[in-house]
Amino acid sequence: MSAAFAVESRACALLEHIAQHTPDACASASGRVNLIGDHVDYAGGMVLPMAIAARTAVAAARAGADDFYSECEADSRWKRYAEGVLAQLREQGIDVPTAVYAVASDVPLGAGLSSSAALEVAFARCALALATRELSHREIALLCQRAEHVYAKVPCGIMDQWCVTHAREGEAIALDCATLTHTAVQLPNQLRIELIDSHVRHTLGDGAYAARRADVENAAAMLGVEHLALLPRQRWCEIEHLPNPIAKRARHVVTENARVHEACRALRDHDLARLGMLLNESHASLRDDFEVSRTEVDALVAQARANGALGARMTGAGFGGYVIAAYCSTSH
Ligand code: GLA
Repeated sequence: MSAAFAVESRACALLEHIAQHTPDACASASGRVNLIGDHVDYAGGMVLPMAIAARTAVAAARAGADDFYSECEADSRWKRYAEGVLAQLREQGIDVPTAVYAVASDVPLGAGLSSSAALEVAFARCALALATRELSHREIALLCQRAEHVYAKVPCGIMDQWCVTHAREGEAIALDCATLTHTAVQLPNQLRIELIDSHVRHTLGDGAYAARRADVENAAAMLGVEHLALLPRQRWCEIEHLPNPIAKRARHVVTENARVHEACRALRDHDLARLGMLLNESHASLRDDFEVSRTEVDALVAQARANGALGARMTGAGFGGYVIAAYCSTSH
């Protein structure tokens, strides 16, 4: 049974159980893990995320008013994302009928694996099916990002929604966030990726993410550039004259963007040792300059390296969540 089929069946069963309705539409979307390139998407940088097998599914049945149910009722913040997506679709003139929605998910919440984008995109796909309308992957990604900005009040970049709408399971994409163009990236056969859960969860709506983004935007304004990640290397020395923590944030952004470009080359050349070093440098930069790691996460990164990983790092927004570790399959 495919991952998509299993989670979609759960969403449909939940809907039938709660609303006593046969679903009129059902859709799903995957989570993602970012190999390298965190906190550079909203600075016009390059990122290298890949779609994962875990998915979120939404089933819907037409009803007199919109109503939402989830397998996991404990946290109802997700409803804001759902309402946001529906409101954005209707604002665009898409006549989404009112419906009862049921959500099932295998993507851990607040763990850096893009549970929000998976939910938004699954909702958009399901609502579009209900309205018998279609939008392009790009339109869905941008609409879901706006829903997150306006309704969940998280000023996220475009990496997650773009990856979730465009990448196939197990496929990595190199996404240029300044031009919104991407290319698929082949992962060498001997590269084995492991995801390790720190069990520390975050909420990006609590302001820490927005504060980091504001630091990055301040740095760009002080340096007079539109995209901080694209600051030419000969101007990097100017960063050291900025006040802290702005200087530290800016140093992370420009070096992380350079690491993503180098990681793409390392993957192309099957140079896994180089890739591992870049992952390690990325973690140090997110921990020390961007200050979004946690001690629990640092400990898992150290443990993965001690267990033979070529490199390991936190992944996603930070403040907890998963660690990504890269192994050479012949050496482990
Ligand atoms: C969250 C955001 C993304 C990106 C990452 C950090 O996942 O949604 O846009 O900024 O954090 O790389």
